[in-house]
Amino acid sequence: MNIQWYPGHMTRTRRRMADSLKQVDAVCEVVDARIPQVSRNPDMDEIAGNKPRLLVMNRTDLADPEMTKQWAAYYRRQGYAVLTTDAKSGAGVAKFSAAVRSLLADKIQMWKEKGQTGRSVKVMVVGIPNVGKSTFINKVLGRKSAKAADKPGVTRGQQWFRVENGLELLDTPGILWPKLDDERTGIYLAVTGAVKDDVVDVETLACRLMEILYHRAPELLVNRYKIQLPGEEEEFDFLGYELLMRAGRKRGFLISGGEIDTERMARILLDEFRGGKLGRITLETPEEYMTEDGANG
Ligand code: G4P
Repeated sequence: MNIQWYPGHMTRTRRRMADSLKQVDAVCEVVDARIPQVSRNPDMDEIAGNKPRLLVMNRTDLADPEMTKQWAAYYRRQGYAVLTTDAKSGAGVAKFSAAVRSLLADKIQMWKEKGQTGRSVKVMVVGIPNVGKSTFINKVLGRKSAKAADKPGVTRGQQWFRVENGLELLDTPGILWPKLDDERTGIYLAVTGAVKDDVVDVETLACRLMEILYHRAPELLVNRYKIQLPGEEEEFDFLGYELLMRAGRKRGFLISGGEIDTERMARILLDEFRGGKLGRITLETPEEYMTEDGANG
C-alpha cells in the first residue's frame, strides 16, 4: 500500500486536535460499520484522552446486521456510547442528540446544580476520510449541503455547527489518518473505498477482495456472479485471480483472442462491493480483537 502519512501532517493535526479537545465535552468518532476497527484512527485513544466517547457506527446499511449488533456490544463493554447509523438515508441519526445527552448526563446535571442552565454541550466529530462523517454531520444538522474539499493533506479551519438549543458540533480540525501499518488493514480500507483506487492496483485489490469474500461470505459470490466456487481439494496459486476470471467469463467480459478482461471485472467487483450490490457484509469480527480469555484486546 503505497500511501504515506507524513509525520508533519500527523503532528500538526494532533496539535490542532489537542487544542480543540479543550473546548469540547465529548468526542464522537465515526467509523465504517463494515470495518469498525480498521476504520478508526489508530491514535484516537491517545488523542481523545479521557473525554467521554460516542462511537457512531455508520454505513450499517452495507454491514451485516448481526455483526453490527456484536460490534456495538463489544464497544459498549469498552465504555463507549454507541450509535448505529446509515447517514445516507438518515436512519439512526435522529438519536444522536439523545445519545450525547445521555453520555454527558452527569455533567449536564452538575451544570444544572451550579445554575449554568444556558450552557451548551460541545462535541467534536472525528473520523478518517470516507467513513461518511460529512454526510453524518449534514444529516444531524438537517441540511443537504456539500462538504468542503476533503482530501488527505487539505486542512480546513475550525467549523462549529449548532445542532439545536444546547448542542454544538465541531468538525475535526484537519484530516485524520487511518492506520496503514499492515497489509490487511490497507486492503480493507481500499476495498471499502476509504483509500482511493488511484493509490492501489485495481486488479490486485479485486483479487484480494475475491479471496476475502470466498472465505467470509462465499454465498454472496455465488448469488451475484453465478460462479462455481472451487472445491476444498482444488488448489490455485492465485485463488483470487481464478475467481475473478470465473466471474469475468460468466459476464462475458472478453478481449481479443478470447482472453478474459479481468481488469474490467476487477473494477466492476469493487464498484459493486462498495455499493452494497453483493449484499451486506462485515469484514472483521470482534473475536479477532479479543484475547483468549474473552477480554477486549
Ligand atoms: P467523509 O466526510 O467521512 O469523508 O465521507 P462522506 O460524508 O463524504 O461520505 C463518503 C461517501 O459515503 C459518500 O458517497 C456518501 O454518500 C457515502 N455515505 C455516507 N454515509 C453512508 C451510509 O451510511 N451508507 C452508505 N451506503 N453510504 C454512505 P459518494 O459516493 O462519495 O457520494 P454520493 O454519491 O453519495 O454523492
